[in-house]
Amino acid sequence: NIFTPQWRPKAHFTPEQNWMNDPNGLVYYNGKYHLFYQYNPHGNDWGNMNWGHATSTDLVNWHHHPVAVEMSPKGLGYIYSGSAVVDYDNTSGLQTGEHPPLVALFTHTEANTEVQRQSLAYSLDGGDSWQQYANNPVIENPGIVDFRDPKVSWHPASSQWIMALTAGHSIEFYASKNLFDWAHISSFGEDDGSHQGEWECPDLFELTTETGIKKWVLLVSLVPGGPNGGSGTQYFIGDFDGVQFKAEHQDVRWLDYGPDNYAGVTWDGRQTIDNRRTLIAWMSNWTYAEDMPTFPWRGAMCLPRDLSLTQIDGNFYVTNLPAKEVLDSSQIVSEVTASDKVLSLPLSQKSALDIQLSCEITQSDKLYIRMFNDAGETVELKYLPQRQKLVVDRSQAGWSYKLWRTPRLEAKTFIDSGKVNARLVLDTSSLEVFWQQGSTTMTICLLPTQPFNRIEISSDNTGDKKISLAEIK
Ligand code: FRU
Repeated sequence: NIFTPQWRPKAHFTPEQNWMNDPNGLVYYNGKYHLFYQYNPHGNDWGNMNWGHATSTDLVNWHHHPVAVEMSPKGLGYIYSGSAVVDYDNTSGLQTGEHPPLVALFTHTEANTEVQRQSLAYSLDGGDSWQQYANNPVIENPGIVDFRDPKVSWHPASSQWIMALTAGHSIEFYASKNLFDWAHISSFGEDDGSHQGEWECPDLFELTTETGIKKWVLLVSLVPGGPNGGSGTQYFIGDFDGVQFKAEHQDVRWLDYGPDNYAGVTWDGRQTIDNRRTLIAWMSNWTYAEDMPTFPWRGAMCLPRDLSLTQIDGNFYVTNLPAKEVLDSSQIVSEVTASDKVLSLPLSQKSALDIQLSCEITQSDKLYIRMFNDAGETVELKYLPQRQKLVVDRSQAGWSYKLWRTPRLEAKTFIDSGKVNARLVLDTSSLEVFWQQGSTTMTICLLPTQPFNRIEISSDNTGDKKISLAEIK
């Protein structure tokens, strides 16, 4: 193992050392975002699963805390993915002091049987310390091998807690008044969406369009079968009446088309403050996660993102952009505007970069965006408006070619008018593409041997082009 500080991201969360996968227990309370995550405290591979813990007030700078929910070989076994909520009304009756209880529900698997059950842990001091409930589990395994990843949220209309979890190829919904006693209420998905892989890590929430239309959204990660191979996250738009979720479309929708955005879920507690839905996802892919050559850590989170419900050509889609806090902490450092075929700008390397691009384009034109470094490595984005396609080639982007099974990555675009508006976040070993106000996004890991230090946009027409560069602090 060789230390790889050059690949340590600056604005993305990584554990100080060792293995990390899914985000868990996302809960916002008292001005703090809590991020728990699937963590192996003893090594750089998957194993010994616990909930690692970090907190942030700005979603960019993170403080590391000790493991919050701990595995025990003789007790619950490995602690798998799950969620956490703020129990503002003390429905659990756990409250002892000034803070409402923070309650986590998670899957665990006993070392010898591997049976998956759901259990509970809680914090009575606002999220600093966590203890496991004495009478776990709260949901027994009903005879289903893959039965995991509970995501809990308060459903105001029916005044109860709703839990979504995955059972192989379906979502199972449960309801509870107190977070301890759960009743099975419905199933979803046997005949919906993509079943190219196993379903994992669901999330259910409501979003509102700018014009006030409300829809329920169900996120379901699946592996394999993602849009560019391996892991991916599909979503459904529809209605949830407190019992049953119904999707209003047949087509498969992807939250992010890149290969490195998985198990994404949203923060609880945020909505009570300003009605935002903020998501974070694991920035890797089960196809090669365990071969990523980073050390002494392995695994990063994508940038936190605010989700919106947007109507495009009569259909509703979930769009995503970097979270407001991330945008607030970025400062413009350079800018260039011209009506040339090619426009380029040097990239500074002190911080993660939020690169905003705009450009005029005709239907028959192609637009290229390329980044280069001094080692002759490059990553290329090609936009084909006529084909409604974005193509990214990461095969020449450094160490990567040894690892990625799919060097050429494709995404569908939804807004193909005469103007391109894009936001690229580049942070040492990753590129996140937010195309046309986040209507298409791609999260892509890269392993350049030297930092990318120049960006270029080019097309055959001499319409207006602009690049502006901001540093995320
Ligand atoms: C998704 C997943 C979850 C599981 C966890 C185990 O990446 O497989 O389904 O709870 O990882 O680490």
